[in-house]
Amino acid sequence: MEKLKVMAIFGTRPEAIKMAPVILELEKFSDKIDTTVAVTAQHREMLDQVLNLFKITPNYDLNIMSAGQTLFDITSRALLGLNKILEEVKPNIVLVHGDTTTTFAGALAAYYHQNSVGHVEAGLRTGNKFSPYPEEMNRKLTAALTDLNFAPTNTAKENLLREGVDEDKIFVTGNTVIDALYKTVRRDFKFSDELLNGIDYNKRIILVTTHRRENWGEPLRNVYKALKKLVDEFSDVEIIFPVHKNPMVRNVVDEELGNLPRVHLTDPLDYEPFANLMSRVKLILTDSGGVQEEAPALGKPVLVLRGTTERPEAVDAGTVKLIGTEFEKVYANAKLLLTDDDEYKKMAEAVNPYGDGVAARRIVQAILWSYKLADEKPAPFIA
Ligand code: UD1
Ligand code: UDP
Repeated sequence: MEKLKVMAIFGTRPEAIKMAPVILELEKFSDKIDTTVAVTAQHREMLDQVLNLFKITPNYDLNIMSAGQTLFDITSRALLGLNKILEEVKPNIVLVHGDTTTTFAGALAAYYHQNSVGHVEAGLRTGNKFSPYPEEMNRKLTAALTDLNFAPTNTAKENLLREGVDEDKIFVTGNTVIDALYKTVRRDFKFSDELLNGIDYNKRIILVTTHRRENWGEPLRNVYKALKKLVDEFSDVEIIFPVHKNPMVRNVVDEELGNLPRVHLTDPLDYEPFANLMSRVKLILTDSGGVQEEAPALGKPVLVLRGTTERPEAVDAGTVKLIGTEFEKVYANAKLLLTDDDEYKKMAEAVNPYGDGVAARRIVQAILWSYKLADEKPAPFIA
């Protein structure tokens, strides 16, 4: 019997974290599935650390990243590089993840080769084409090219149904980020990094990450000024801020927060220490998508530095709050959680609307079932 050829395409840190459990699960079915991994390497170091952690060696690596790359650079280099790989491998189905430019270019390249497309983390929407930018359009364009939709939640499934996607083509699986998180966070984890090892976690630590394109410039500057005021005012508060590699982010962080006492700026952390750090801090401020999904599972309140979110589930549950990027809003919301125990406790409930740790298993079962290689359709994830 010919094996089913499945190719996973991804390129950035979050795609790698969330695709790794799927690849590891696909590899368990090597009697039925021939798995190929192709990375665009839209990210380089931030991608490689995830590949190392999950011991994934790509079959193809396009190595497209350049410093300060534009959307045009990423899209065109990924598309041209993937053309050759798809021509050679001829997969039955290409899996892409999420909403990056690699995601869209991967789906488009597969479509040009008339390969089927499976979209992991399908159906997230804000309804605003420029927020987040360009992710909202990347995921909508990818959806138009997708044959099998792996929606993490029921809300995501409903978004797809509203857009006219056939219900038979949607599988509610949970988010694979929770699979990755459960494999990674351990009570007895020891940091090897000197800074993280030396921190007193009984102090009130705020963890910060920022990178969204629509926040570049003044919005980020406002956030950093608010952080500065918070450490000035609360002498027992420390900030750990792993700064994204993007120079558009780094330069402003250095200008506003460089060399301040109790503000620890670091390079991006590898996923294992980062996830374990999340589980030990008091509060998280971020504009990240993935962090909004992970932190609630760890019982950590998240203030989201954005005006919109495609992840409303934890906002509804009360552990995530959308606060935007205005100076006053950032300062006041963080201050409230630092001074009002009841407010803090309300937000620090551990909730997990995003997954139960076996999303990858459902995704692989759904693929096998769709190609008549399994008898049963996976039962949907119920939060
Ligand atoms: C990208 C995705 C975004 C995703 C984010 C996750 C697009 C357009 N954006 O944004 O959806 O949320 O990744 O982090 O797909 N860099 C390095 N080393 C690295 C990674 C990045 O030096 O390992 C620097 C390079 O100068 C690069 C720049 O960061 O040009 C920007 O990378 P890029 O992937 O274009 O944008 P992100 O802001 O990372
Ligand atoms: N993350 C990490 N190291 C860091 C910051 C984040 O490993 O220094 C992880 C985080 O746990 C989450 C993912 O990276 O799983 C989120 O990536 P990012 O915020 O870059 O992208 P987004 O999720 O917004 O697309």
